[in-house]
Formats: sequence, structure tokens, C-alpha cells
Amino acid sequence: MRTSRIVGFCGNSWRPAKSRVLVEAVAADLLTRHGLKTDVLDLVDAGCGIAAFTRVGLDDSARAVVEAIEQADGLVIGCPVFQGSYPGLFKHVFDLIEPDVLRNRPVLLTAVGGGLRHSLVVEHQLRPLFGFFEACTVSSAIYASSAEIMPGEPLAPMTATRLANAVEQLASLLGGRQADAA
Ligand SMILES: Cc1cc2nc3c(=O)[nH]c(=O)nc-3n(C[C@H](O)[C@H](O)[C@H](O)COP(=O)(O)O)c2cc1C
Repeated sequence: MRTSRIVGFCGNSWRPAKSRVLVEAVAADLLTRHGLKTDVLDLVDAGCGIAAFTRVGLDDSARAVVEAIEQADGLVIGCPVFQGSYPGLFKHVFDLIEPDVLRNRPVLLTAVGGGLRHSLVVEHQLRPLFGFFEACTVSSAIYASSAEIMPGEPLAPMTATRLANAVEQLASLLGGRQADAA
């Protein structure tokens, strides 16, 4: 049986980035508890070439990130909250993706904001975006404030519990897809 290709994609455009740390925490949990490897990418990997107006204008680094998202069996999505929503360049990546390629794809949603005021960004912005693509978003999305993510330190217990639940759901959806494909 082919192993699942899981791609983490985070809408941070600089590093270090707490939004990327959260995606990496999901990737670490997928590996330790489910033996599933995740390749984590972000807008820094895509580079400035991602700002091309059309798909044909993408340079190699930007195209590689877009293609990795399209070819993944499952996605772990992350973004910092900008002006109450996802960053514009993050949305631009998905504007370059054909509407039907993410259909039925398991997707775990995460976001990090400066505070808790915009915690529903995962439900009100990210989930509808992947609803457009008819992807299978996992029920538990993960939101953390920047104060709750300290690089090198364990996640706050509530965030860690939510993360474990969300990862469980993603692993189960990925398992179901593999069984369907077999
Ligand atoms: C342009 C900009 C807009 C932001 N807007 C919001 C916002 O509306 N709500 C919020 O909670 N945090 C907002 N923030 C704070 C970031 O979401 C927060 O610092 C987050 O930790 C950044 O994640 P990062 O470490 O991955 O860059 C904003 C930050 C920037 C740079």
C-alpha cells in the first residue's frame, strides 16, 4: 500500500513564525502517534514568485509549493491572522489551484493570532475556503494566540488536547481514503 503524502502548508511569510510552529507540532504528533510523515512548506518556501498573477507566471519555487499542495493526500493548513482573516498571499496560493483538485481531500485547519479575539477565523474564513474546494475538513480546528506558542516549549494543555483530537480525526480520514483506494 502506498503511504499517504501529507503536506503542511502555512501562510507565514517570515520565520520564525508561530503559525508554522503550530503546523510543525501537528506534523510531530502525526509522526509519533500515527507514523505519518508530513512535509511542512510555507510562503517563504514559495518565495516572492508566488505573487505571479497567473499560474503560468509562477517560478520554480512557487510552482513546487502549489504542486505539492495539489498532489497531497492530506493537508495540514496553518496561517497567522492578518486583519481578522488569513493573509492575502495565503489566499492567492489557493486562487491558483483548480477548483476540483482538492475534492474529498482531508484537511486539518490551524491558525495563530495575536490574541483570542479572532479565534473563529478557523471557522469563518478557513473552513469556508476549503468548503469551496469540497475538501473534507476535520471537525476540530486548532487556534492559538501567539502568547500560547513559545518555540521550544510544550503547547498549553488545552491546545495540546485539541491538537491530539484533530490529528486523530485527520489520521482516521486518511486511513479511510487509503482503504477506499485499495
Ligand atoms: C499585518 C498584520 C495584521 C494582523 N492582524 C491581526 C488580527 O486581526 N488579529 C489578531 O489576532 N492578530 C493579528 N496580527 C497578529 C498576528 O496574527 C500574530 O502576531 C501571529 O502570532 C503571527 O504569527 P506568526 O508568528 O506566524 O507570524 C496581525 C499581524 C500582522 C503582521
